[in-house]
Amino acid sequence: MNILAIESSCDETAVALYQGDVSTGEGRIVAECIASQIETHARFGGVVPEVASREHLRILPELVDGVMRDAGMEWGDVQAVAVTSGPGLMGALLVGASYARAVGVVQGIPVLPIHHMEGHLLAPGLEGKMPEFPFIALLVSGGHTMLVRVDGIGRYKVIGKTLDDAAGECFDKSARVLGLSYPGGPEIAKLALHGNAARFKLPRPMLQKNNLDFSFSGLKTAVMYAARAVKVLDDVAKQDLAAGVEAAVSDVLVKKSIKACEQEGVPRLLVAGGVAANVYLRKLLAKEAEKRGLSVSLPAAAYCTDNAAMIAYAAFQRLCAQGSFDDMWDVKSRWPVSELKL
Ligand code: KG4
Ligand code: ZN
Repeated sequence: MNILAIESSCDETAVALYQGDVSTGEGRIVAECIASQIETHARFGGVVPEVASREHLRILPELVDGVMRDAGMEWGDVQAVAVTSGPGLMGALLVGASYARAVGVVQGIPVLPIHHMEGHLLAPGLEGKMPEFPFIALLVSGGHTMLVRVDGIGRYKVIGKTLDDAAGECFDKSARVLGLSYPGGPEIAKLALHGNAARFKLPRPMLQKNNLDFSFSGLKTAVMYAARAVKVLDDVAKQDLAAGVEAAVSDVLVKKSIKACEQEGVPRLLVAGGVAANVYLRKLLAKEAEKRGLSVSLPAAAYCTDNAAMIAYAAFQRLCAQGSFDDMWDVKSRWPVSELKL
């Protein structure tokens, strides 16, 4: 079967076409496209929800046409439409969902609502890198940071989460302190390559706490104070602070993930979401996991940040596992992962 997927929960408009065989569980992405709104939002220093909705509305029809053309398909070849139905920006979600519903009605095909974070969680499967169940998932994006015990598709137990800012938010806010553009993660990573992480003593929040929760707002504040304390925030100081914050966030994420695996007695870790694209974090994860005999699954960098391939894949996995979807659904800007069921 062919599934056309749409992702429009934040500032990327993405469309993908997945071809899968439910009887074997095998499949592949046939065509995909992403239009980033980063340049539109960068001058505001972050995503402006109303602007995001209008951009999705403007670009989505073109992207769908382009993907259908690249796939060499007609609407009659598509058996289902998958769409991110939450969590995310309400207006942005509504654009994708309304488009998907219109296609569903006109073509007489089902519309499959997908949880954005479930998309991230299953993304390694796009390249056949899904670990065996059960495994521990660290989901790190711009809006979420959580540790989840995964016992199967739709069987998710949140065992740790951030009490305030998400890891991606910490990168974005620290980048703003350093005068870098949005989104901050890739900018910090670029600067950090030449920095000395040991120069500024930045905190490792929540590591001393005997739980699996995170807190990143204090780290962002520490970056702000450190930036103010140096006489001149020159390029070297910026590089050193960038390296410091990258190391601090990564250190906390890696140690808490390992703790989660040990606590749950599960030697398999999956890391996904935008922050999982960070090269320093990926290397640290590989090194620390290997020492402890843990396996680590990571999507390719392009499938860490928002994309529609992961939404198509999650829809396909759910179809394989549950057979069909309920027709009655609404978009939800807030939607805890723990509410998902099979
Ligand atoms: O998953 P994602 O694309 O969108 C959300 O669902 O939020 O994640 C975006 C977040 C942003 O905070 C961005 O700064 C961060 O992921 N990010 C990175 C990197 N690439 C994206 N953080 C650190 N290093 C990166 N290379
Ligand atoms: Zn995301």
